[in-house]
Amino acid sequence: MAEPRRAFICGHPVGHSRSPLIHGHWLDQHGIAGTYERVDVAPDALAGFLARIEDSGFVGGNVTVPHKELAARLVDRCDQAAEIIGAVNTLWLEDGRLCGANTDACGFGASLDAAAPGWTECGVATVLGAGGAARAIVHALTRGGMNDIRIVNRTHGRALELADRIGAGASAHPQAALGELLSDTGLLVNTTSMGMAGAGPLAIDLAPLPAHAVVADIVYVPLRTPLLAAARERGLTTVDGLGMLLHQAVSGFERWFGVRPEVTDTLRDIVVADLEDAP
Ligand code: ATR
Repeated sequence: MAEPRRAFICGHPVGHSRSPLIHGHWLDQHGIAGTYERVDVAPDALAGFLARIEDSGFVGGNVTVPHKELAARLVDRCDQAAEIIGAVNTLWLEDGRLCGANTDACGFGASLDAAAPGWTECGVATVLGAGGAARAIVHALTRGGMNDIRIVNRTHGRALELADRIGAGASAHPQAALGELLSDTGLLVNTTSMGMAGAGPLAIDLAPLPAHAVVADIVYVPLRTPLLAAARERGLTTVDGLGMLLHQAVSGFERWFGVRPEVTDTLRDIVVADLEDAP
């Protein structure tokens, strides 16, 4: 009998990750005798860990905070999204070579497809934040065909850098311009850590947003961030951060275990219950 396939998630810390719950659910659902294991890897141990993936008996795995950028530099090959975003979250071996992909952008796009169908017709997008997560989100928006993406960040220089990196279709704007920017925004996305449990709320006034606007947050602890609550109160369509987490996991599972899994309401309910239990 073939050995069970083993995949991992490496991060530092990694105890809070919900990915084992997601992949564990799919392994059970498909009756696959595989494993998906948490591995805490300190930053200075990442290169050694990645060099020994095969020897450790793994077929591949996920990379999470704070290793995504370094992993992109350590792989032998990476997909186009990882190259553009400069970060890798999914690893596998091909002919003994370490390959990396970034599935965050694709996961965000799939989450919007599910919760806000037609989002690619939203017109103007405004993205709050200009860090690593923002790079994936802006890439997802350009892949969806959006060509007026406005980036607003506390540190304006980072917004300029990101807009520059994307080129045509993206622009950087000072925070003071946000009210004006919102007045014709069809899709607003928070990629900052504001609104996350333990951080302050994202203090922005949504009043200028048009009634058809969609508001998305990539924060999923809590699931209903103050930003999403304010958007719901105004009757706007909202997209929470859990969809991106669930959808980014699909292609990794398929690579490691050979079955393309589905993001279902049952899976979502399982993760929501876990988040409510221990945020
Ligand atoms: P990630 O990879 O999760 O995006 P990051 O690269 O550290 O993490 O970026 C965090 C983002 O949240 C940045 O846009 C950051 O703004 P700065 O570039 O000005 O640091 C934003 N952010 C974090 N704390 C913030 C705060 N208190 N107010 C506004 N923006 C904040």
